[in-house]
Amino acid sequence: MTEPFTPETLNQADTDFEISLRPIRFDDYIGQEKVKERLSLFVEAAKGRQDVLDHVLLSGPPGLGKTTLAHILAQAMGVTIKVTSGPVIDKPGDLAGLLTNMERGDILFIDEIHRMQRSVEEYLYSAMEDFVIDIMIDQGPNARSVRLNLQPFTLIGATTRSGLLTAPLRSRFGLSNRLDYYTGEELQTIIQRSARILNVDISEAGAAEIGTRARGTPRIANNLLRWVRDYAQVRADNKIDEDVADRALSMLEIDQDGLDEMDKRILSTILDKFSGGPVGLNSLAVSVGEEASTIEEVYEPYLIQEGYVKRTPQGRVVTDRTYQKFGRPPNPRSGELL
Ligand code: ADE
Repeated sequence: MTEPFTPETLNQADTDFEISLRPIRFDDYIGQEKVKERLSLFVEAAKGRQDVLDHVLLSGPPGLGKTTLAHILAQAMGVTIKVTSGPVIDKPGDLAGLLTNMERGDILFIDEIHRMQRSVEEYLYSAMEDFVIDIMIDQGPNARSVRLNLQPFTLIGATTRSGLLTAPLRSRFGLSNRLDYYTGEELQTIIQRSARILNVDISEAGAAEIGTRARGTPRIANNLLRWVRDYAQVRADNKIDEDVADRALSMLEIDQDGLDEMDKRILSTILDKFSGGPVGLNSLAVSVGEEASTIEEVYEPYLIQEGYVKRTPQGRVVTDRTYQKFGRPPNPRSGELL
């Protein structure tokens, strides 16, 4: 069975492929217009004052371009970016090591910042606010703290779960931006751009077909493009049109609404095993055989945004749209549940 394309199933080749397709300037970045406008203004103002860019928080579901934006910000400011991730920094010394090696204005990008340990996070407060870090050395009666002065730097934090950030950390970001799912047209434009870079022959309708089936996510769109390219190479003379895209995506069991196998498994489980819901996240996770956090961070946001699922205080319920999609009569209890 083919693995559905989720950010979790990306391998090294996918990652290299994706990096080559990433825009490196605001002008080439498609979509997220409001975020782009705010960030480019932020850069222009900081550069105009010859100042260091204030700390930026980027939140939103995986694959929407948080890392790409961080690189674009570094490029626009003309500074070096160091990339790390919350769970990787497991002691304050690691953080101190990163920060003391930064030059004025450099960017530290911390992905999944909500997964950073609390003990490390506390050191980040003074680093972000005053550009100092007080490290404890030795233990017992010899314990003392040493103050390290840092060059002013910019922290860019990325998170799929901005709600999990502590208030002290959140309040230290000068600007906070949430990325939304892309429209089908924006994804079509991204796919056409990627196809040009990869020298792939694709019609407008072919790109649109992939765009509407990419769960609003550029990373998925680019991965699907690669799959459809392979399909066209073997079965369709290297040319992608609407029909070829449709056949290639159907082979991955990505349906006309862009839902993949796991999306459909989640919906049919709520529908059939839990009579439409409400069902708690953990019970749902066990039933579909997926991590609760993956359901919550990767699958559910799209299903909610598309109106297939709702969160209620009692748990998750499926909407009339799901009943319709699975060819069922509307839920007689929908009025009382939603
Ligand atoms: N590739 C991935 N994301 C993109 C975006 N937002 N704009 C252009 N190309 C992209």
